[in-house]
Amino acid sequence: MKLPYIPEDAPFNGEQRNWLGGFLAGLHSRVVMGGGAVTAAEAPVQAKPLDILFGTQTGNAEEVANEAAELAKSKGFAPRVAELDAVEMDQLAAMENLIVVISTYGEGEMPDNAELFWESLSATTAPRLENLNYGVLALGDTSYEHFCQAGKLIDTRLEQLGAKRLGARVDCDVDFEDAASAWLGATIPDAGSAVANDSAAPAAKKEKSGFSRKKPYLSTMLENRILSGPTSAKEIRHLSFDLGDSGMTYEAGDALGVMPVNNPVLVDTLIKRLGATAETAVSGHDTGLGALLTSSLEICTPSKDLITEIEKRAQHEELSHVLGHGDKEALDAFLWGKDTLDLLNLTPDLQISVDDFVSWLKPLQHRAYSISSSPNAHPGEVHLTVAAVRWMYDHRAHGGVCSTFLSDHVPVGAQAGIFMSANKSFRVPADNDVPMIMVGPGTGIAPFRAFLEERQARGAKGANWLFFGDQHRESDFIYEDEISAMSSAGLLTRLDLAFSRDQAEKIYVQNRMIENGKDLFYMLEEGGHFYVCGDATRMAKDVDAALHHIIETQGGMTPEAATDYVNRLKRDKRYVRDVY
Ligand SMILES: Cc1cc2nc3c(=O)[nH]c(=O)nc-3n(C[C@H](O)[C@H](O)[C@H](O)COP(=O)(O)OP(=O)(O)OC[C@H]3O[C@@H](n4cnc5c(N)ncnc54)[C@H](O)[C@@H]3O)c2cc1C
Ligand SMILES: NC(=O)c1ccc[n+]([C@@H]2O[C@H](COP(=O)([O-])OP(=O)(O)OC[C@H]3O[C@@H](n4cnc5c(N)ncnc54)[C@H](OP(=O)(O)O)[C@@H]3O)[C@@H](O)[C@H]2O)c1
Ligand SMILES: Cc1cc2nc3c(=O)[nH]c(=O)nc-3n(C[C@H](O)[C@H](O)[C@H](O)COP(=O)(O)O)c2cc1C
Repeated sequence: MKLPYIPEDAPFNGEQRNWLGGFLAGLHSRVVMGGGAVTAAEAPVQAKPLDILFGTQTGNAEEVANEAAELAKSKGFAPRVAELDAVEMDQLAAMENLIVVISTYGEGEMPDNAELFWESLSATTAPRLENLNYGVLALGDTSYEHFCQAGKLIDTRLEQLGAKRLGARVDCDVDFEDAASAWLGATIPDAGSAVANDSAAPAAKKEKSGFSRKKPYLSTMLENRILSGPTSAKEIRHLSFDLGDSGMTYEAGDALGVMPVNNPVLVDTLIKRLGATAETAVSGHDTGLGALLTSSLEICTPSKDLITEIEKRAQHEELSHVLGHGDKEALDAFLWGKDTLDLLNLTPDLQISVDDFVSWLKPLQHRAYSISSSPNAHPGEVHLTVAAVRWMYDHRAHGGVCSTFLSDHVPVGAQAGIFMSANKSFRVPADNDVPMIMVGPGTGIAPFRAFLEERQARGAKGANWLFFGDQHRESDFIYEDEISAMSSAGLLTRLDLAFSRDQAEKIYVQNRMIENGKDLFYMLEEGGHFYVCGDATRMAKDVDAALHHIIETQGGMTPEAATDYVNRLKRDKRYVRDVY
């Protein structure tokens, strides 16, 4: 067998070259040693497996993993794609070539479907991985403190365990597509003459409609009404978008991406503050300043570059102090409530050139919203449940970019750019008889409205138990009419409410869970699925703790046994979350 020649200038580094050489030599020796009846030339060459593992919350990493599989197949590998949590350590130890694509969540944490993998990999019991060649592609967002932390942790740990890099890790910012493709191209080597096993790789996920983050569909708003009452501290809205002839489809549990447009008042004020006009040309851009600030750049949340550059010029004692001391909490407290205009105005007579200002801003990003409708209940429509983020700072009204864009600037009949974002783990049970337990306070109720509609459409007979709450029953019991109708119809078999501020002490959904721990544990034992949606930082952590507590007390288990129980639920996709 003639080994393919690898030219010196081929796009592999030393490690990759060694690995590739070793792999090809291995392929050669196996074919030759297998000799006898079959000659090397006739040997049915088995494609070398390439494992591609992903950790994702909103699908980006899975999308890249599928792209990796397509590429690996075209390069002669037999790719095997799976989520990280599906892999046990003994399986990992048996792998030879591995690509990991992983995003980061929370405060530098693993996405939900990589938590169990990380727990095992970081444990002292993790196996040595000397036979493993690997590459890690990390997805993240530079505006977070712990940029791409999950990818960094996995990369470092694999190295510690003796695995060898196929190439250096790349950390991708929000516009990850080009960087990810380039990394895959450079990191997945050519497997030479091996024949791909067609059944091993799934087809790359392609949005059939052709609409995506890069090319959203301009959808017409069909309904935009306030759900919360007049005395509520919140403004929560029900929105309905027309899918028209887009060809876009979704399932209950998916999210919708919305491309916002910036507040025109903030755009105008910024332009004036810069001493420019909407038509002012900006170096390196085809469109004028007005258009750029309106639809291309993030002008609400200040970027790290903007903060650093303003500090250099503003001679603002407090900003210099908090930045100089590297105190993250003090910096967050200083920045709380300030948008890019507030930063410029720290020193009112500070002159900043338009080119400089624009170069310090980040691209305007879409926002994700859990879909609150089932397509089977509302064909051709997609519904959202959105809380408008508003606050006052320095006597000026401020608003979250997308939530106030949807609330204030997209009335019925107007249009907004949208695209679908699948969340394949977050689904009603495939078995219609299996019970569902849903915990969704505040806007966390969104996907559960969709789930209930979906169960109704399927004629599912399984029990449906909802935990919902917010501040006050009077003003915050959103979808009360629909929920009552679902209860009366026997669809919603059980409803537990926790209105936190209707009494002296706070009552939260997890208090209701614990009060009803016996029934909850019984339902889990019956095969029930446990779902959580809403606030990630406080609620989801406390609900998780309550779940552990219930399993310990009702199941008579030690904390360790309860953790094993919860991990089994996670592995079986019976404990899934959509938290933000
Ligand atoms: C998978 C997923 C699903 C989601 N589902 C939903 C959903 O169903 N419904 C929903 O409403 N949201 C949902 N979100 C959140 C949503 O994506 C947006 O983050 C939210 O609407 C805020 O975006 P914005 O553009 O309005 O605010 P942004 O422009 O992103 O910024 C808000 C900024 O304001 C700051 N801020 C917020 N409140 C205050 C305040 N009171 N005072 C001072 N500063 C403040 C924040 O720190 C932040 O810097 C979901 C998020 C994810 C990831
Ligand atoms: N990224 C953003 O800028 C942004 C924007 C909007 C929303 N969000 C996130 O989305 C979440 C949902 O917002 P929302 O307004 O729909 O609802 P929410 O703020 O989560 O409030 C819903 C209910 O949960 C209660 N709650 C507070 N702490 C809790 C805890 N530790 N455990 C259980 N319940 C708790 C609240 O009570 P009390 O209020 O009485 O304490 C309230 O009754 C927000 O919390 C936030 O994290 C983020
Ligand atoms: C709630 C939330 C928390 C996030 N936390 C981080 C973080 O700590 N560090 C980071 O680099 N990126 C963070 N990100 C950005 C995501 O990692 C990034 O958007 C990634 O492309 C998502 O990929 P996925 O769709 O595969 O989950 C966060 C995103 C969200 C919505």
